[in-house]
Amino acid sequence: MRFARNFEHLIALLGGSEAVQARLGVGPSALSNYKARASLPATKFDLLAEAARQAGWQLDPDTLALAPLAGMRPVVLLIVTGGIAAYKGLDLARRLMDQGCQLRAVMTRGAQQFITPLSLSALIGEKVYTDLFDLTDEAEMGHINLARSADLVLVAPASAHFMAKLAHGLADDLASTLCLASEAPLLLAPAMNPVMWASQATRDNHDLLIRRGVQMVQPADGDMACGETGTGRLAEVPDIVRAALAALAGGGRIIQPAKTASLAGRHILVTSGPTHEPIDQVRYIANRSSGRQGHAIAAACVARGAQVTLISGPVSLPAPHGVRLVQVETADEMMAAAEAALPADIAVCAAAVADWRVENAASGKLKKQAGGPPEMRLVENPDILASLSNHPRRPQLVVGFAAETDTLIDHARVKLAKKGCDWILANQVAQEQGLVFGAEHNQVVLISNAPPEIWPEQDKQAIAERLADQMADSLARPDAAQ
Ligand code: PMT
Repeated sequence: MRFARNFEHLIALLGGSEAVQARLGVGPSALSNYKARASLPATKFDLLAEAARQAGWQLDPDTLALAPLAGMRPVVLLIVTGGIAAYKGLDLARRLMDQGCQLRAVMTRGAQQFITPLSLSALIGEKVYTDLFDLTDEAEMGHINLARSADLVLVAPASAHFMAKLAHGLADDLASTLCLASEAPLLLAPAMNPVMWASQATRDNHDLLIRRGVQMVQPADGDMACGETGTGRLAEVPDIVRAALAALAGGGRIIQPAKTASLAGRHILVTSGPTHEPIDQVRYIANRSSGRQGHAIAAACVARGAQVTLISGPVSLPAPHGVRLVQVETADEMMAAAEAALPADIAVCAAAVADWRVENAASGKLKKQAGGPPEMRLVENPDILASLSNHPRRPQLVVGFAAETDTLIDHARVKLAKKGCDWILANQVAQEQGLVFGAEHNQVVLISNAPPEIWPEQDKQAIAERLADQMADSLARPDAAQ
């Protein structure tokens, strides 16, 4: 039934079932009823139509088909790479056009072994681009323009080779150059032999791309065209369309249906990175925080459908796709940004905020003097975690971190009580282990009113995923673990 399929797309566009239920004020059974009956009460339709309109789409009252609002047809740049699943790129292009997307397409040399540019071009009614050095194309549309014109770059199927090229920033053909030159969200639908998918090289490339904010529609299990069985089949076309619509609407990073909506409708405030406290116009007090842990938490929350305000000190990491980024420099600025971001359902303070600032910071550059180094008086900075924990508009769940060099659990317990937060993730700062500040891995102990939970050493993304899941559980069962 057309209505049911359109409804699925609408749900994806609006952030998943739980987000839609929250908007409509109904439970899961009502939502299934609407689908089963192929109709929606008028008041509920109005709510959904308004939400879709805000995302740039118009909703047909009879079929629930989505059409872009006038002047808002999103441009999807579809890149088809080599593999037996390349033929599904044709169906995918058609389905995306059904949803009102404007298609531009590029095929790699490998893809052309499986389907011809002519067949794709006939479908989308536009030239299909294949060659970086085609001067005619440069005259019509240079590759930079092609990259910049896209609202979403979708690579489907994405071969192991192409993922490796993206992971290492290679730009040796039109498709890889476009991916590098585009600032649009990048969504990959990998497809390959199961052994290739499971190989350590592909795993590493996959994880690296995820960490950079690339979105993925994970491949499916089943029989492969090559005769083997396992994980590696291209995801179903409707799933890729759903993911593309969600990505166009600023949705999640990894498309895993069970997880996508667990924080939908929630506003989460995350602090991340160091603060810089000026000594004079050119010098400052800082620390070694890279922002990796805080940014990973923000990304994991976005992937679960949350609206995330990421308040970040100076870091060199890009902000994860879909967050609202507030860049600050000092603890005072971070405090003000955190207050301004309230109300929030959850606050996670992962930033390494300087405890002190220089009271008499100089306005120019301090000069070396014969009398010795200048005197500096330090004064205490505001404590953001403690302020949020004791705020009149306190978030329902407040989570802090504790970076300790010794007696980790005892110190973290003292911090939990002193600051008044609900959970503390305590991490041991031990330089010789190469963990924590600036590192890719971390090892934490979750301290709350319950017995301490010791989490294994893992990369910061995995810690962020586990934390986001536990936060979602905790909000769903407010009496649990706080
Ligand atoms: O950024 P990465 O390189 O990935 O490293 C991650 C991290 C080590 C920075 C992170 O895991 C971490 O431990 N962050 C907190 C570091 C810290 O400053 O800990 P603390 O024990 O000094 O502070 C305790 C808590 O109070 C923290 O939640 C901190 O954000 C908060 N705080 C501290 C001082 C202050 N003035 N305001 C605060 O909000």
